[in-house]
Amino acid sequence: MSNPLVKVRGLHKSFGDLEVLRGIDMDISSGEVVVVFGRSGSGKSTFLRCLNFLEEPTQGVIQVAGIEVDAGLPTRHRRKDIRRLRSQCGMVFQQFNLFPHMTVLDNVMEGPLRVKSRSSAEVRTHAMELLNDVGMADKAGEHPIRLSGGQQQRVAIARALAMRPAVMLFDEPTSALDPELIHEVLAVMRRLAESHETTMIVVTHEMGFAREVATRMCFFHDGVVLEEGTPDQMFARAQQPETRRFLEAVI
Ligand SMILES: Nc1ncnc2c1ncn2[C@@H]1O[C@H](COP(=O)(O)OP(=O)(O)O)[C@@H](O)[C@H]1O
Ligand SMILES: [Mg+2]
Repeated sequence: MSNPLVKVRGLHKSFGDLEVLRGIDMDISSGEVVVVFGRSGSGKSTFLRCLNFLEEPTQGVIQVAGIEVDAGLPTRHRRKDIRRLRSQCGMVFQQFNLFPHMTVLDNVMEGPLRVKSRSSAEVRTHAMELLNDVGMADKAGEHPIRLSGGQQQRVAIARALAMRPAVMLFDEPTSALDPELIHEVLAVMRRLAESHETTMIVVTHEMGFAREVATRMCFFHDGVVLEEGTPDQMFARAQQPETRRFLEAVI
């Protein structure tokens, strides 16, 4: 991989005495869809949160779209780069986190307007395109409380995309949804993946999605990537007993 879009080297994260990430290295090239899976508590959320410095890594180097931040350097030297790196990472959480007092359209426009590099007409046009892409254009004027969880999550995806991030990070985006609403969110994510324009890291237990959409799967275990490979490799011939045991339990 000559020029990865996302490069992680020696990522460590501790909370006090608890070592949650114990040395993660990862290269992701443009257009890849990487599914991160593993038991609860294995460090998946912490990994995503360290990528965009929602959590401060204890040690390690993170590079996204050419912007590099070394956790070892003093904060004052990194503040600007952390801000730039964050703007390259769109994040979608388990809880939808929309602003309740704003309409759907205003939720999607808020981020780009705050950056002030595009005119509000441009931002609005782009926001409506994105809402159309996620099937929510007809709800542009609604407030989030009037929407189902699946609809809110689709708006949250449009809101993250509105910043034109280099990579989209999804942290169990369907885990809080009623079962009948999961498929509409996965369908949006699948379309994003198939456009080949969006590089995605997806923490999920939806193994059907992983099998069909992932270019690569990474099994997290006790804060390391214990095993990785294509979906075919993972589902047909995982090498590590922990990986096999996990997959048998979730499929
Ligand atoms: N802010 C925090 N403070 C202390 N411990 C934390 C914090 N966030 C996560 N942890 C701990 O780190 C471990 C990994 O958590 P997490 O990354 O959320 O795992 P996963 O997403 O794989 O379930 C867990 O033991 C969790 O309790
Ligand atoms: Mg988690």
